[in-house]
Amino acid sequence: MKIIVANWKMNHDFDKTDQWLDSFFSGYSADFAQFKNITAIVCPPNVLLDHIDSEMISDSFQYLEEVIKQEGKTLENYSEEQLHEIIFEMRPILIGAQDCHHEISGSFTGDVSAAMLKNLGCSHVILGHSERRAGHFESNAIVNRKALAAVVQGLTPIICVGESKEIRDQNQHVEFVRQQLLESLSQDVKFKKLVIAYEPIWSIGTGIVPTMAQIGEMTKIIRDVLATSFSNRIEEFFVIYGGSVTAENSGEILQVPGVDGLLVGKASLDAAEFLKICSSAFES
Ligand code: PGA
Repeated sequence: MKIIVANWKMNHDFDKTDQWLDSFFSGYSADFAQFKNITAIVCPPNVLLDHIDSEMISDSFQYLEEVIKQEGKTLENYSEEQLHEIIFEMRPILIGAQDCHHEISGSFTGDVSAAMLKNLGCSHVILGHSERRAGHFESNAIVNRKALAAVVQGLTPIICVGESKEIRDQNQHVEFVRQQLLESLSQDVKFKKLVIAYEPIWSIGTGIVPTMAQIGEMTKIIRDVLATSFSNRIEEFFVIYGGSVTAENSGEILQVPGVDGLLVGKASLDAAEFLKICSSAFES
């Protein structure tokens, strides 16, 4: 099961979002059966979360009766809660956020808590993206606290790690990423599910993609650290790759042993391209 994450960053307004969803939903309907084999997640700016959630629910409603009929039942056979659950299961794409605060509530102007995101229909949250680490001075210790907050609310964290060009040039990338993992996951957090995104900073938004051997090397190291240092604290983990992923290179990257999926920035803004990236995961 491959995980394909769309990280919209600070892009798209309501109109563009509706166009994106229309296009995504039609691609999804055409490839309905194949989508069952992947987990697709869209991470828009927070202001769009509720809108996307509502659109998703109304889209699912169209098919609800049909699905229920296939079970040989009618709407009346289900409680409101059960119908809610069925609709959630039917979502073509899960929703994630791009960050959360480490506290549940309080005087944190401009911040959003994991509990609020959960309420808006999120199942995942990206944490420690290099743009947050650089632009908002987020340390591994803060990422660690955010991960704890996310887990408490039942959100699956997608924790980003990755080295700069300087660190790679000094051949310190393995030690650097190892340290990021150990410190970002250091507290006594128990993860049901955890996604680690290896995103070398020199590849994000640059069009420069590491060699498949470099991706394979780092993926293996991340898997080894998770298996050796966190085996009793993580029930299930996935290691995905991010950085200049496109529809052209996604298939090849997904073939690298140990790569469980992709974190897609710029190329995810276009629904048609994102659908192509998803379809490259159908086959792998
Ligand atoms: P990119 O961004 O695909 O535009 O390189 C990836 C990311 O920052 O997650």
